[in-house]
Amino acid sequence: AANSISADRVPDMGKRELMNLLLLGAISLPSVGMLVPYGAFFVPAGSGNAGGGTIAKDKLGNDVLADEWIQTHGPNDRTLTQGLKGDPTYLVVEADKTLASYGINAVCTHLGCVVPWNTAENKFICPCHGSQYNNQGRVVRGPAPLSLALVHADVEDGKVLFVPWVETDFRTGENPWWS
Ligand code: FES
Repeated sequence: AANSISADRVPDMGKRELMNLLLLGAISLPSVGMLVPYGAFFVPAGSGNAGGGTIAKDKLGNDVLADEWIQTHGPNDRTLTQGLKGDPTYLVVEADKTLASYGINAVCTHLGCVVPWNTAENKFICPCHGSQYNNQGRVVRGPAPLSLALVHADVEDGKVLFVPWVETDFRTGENPWWS
């Protein structure tokens, strides 16, 4: 009888370990997707300033200067910066080489992967489950249920200042789901 118990146990433990591994893998997949493009942005929290705004930071953690950004980023560029609460946020350069007055939160509304910009497709395409957003971050293909969140991108003292977007979403005409 002792033999049959230990023989039962071994495969059982093996199964449990395997389950744990699978579970771990399933959970960490989306966060790996978030960490890879976002790994450069480990800046201490609390760098926001009064009034709920936060100066945009580039991938090196430096303040984003609007003029310099325009000179180094071409028309229709979408490049990640660090935004409100540290969220990865796209700065948008319009076709006429002006900085858009809005930024786009890069966190996919499906399960939270950071969504890369695809220049050739002129869309944001999520690598995790294939959701797509147009060049303003409006959802055009699921499974993502909602458009990417907006922030205001103001310019103050030459620096790009992100301010929470609480007004109507200009892309959908609806109230913002994120505020
Ligand atoms: Fe983007 Fe699932 S997390 S499609």
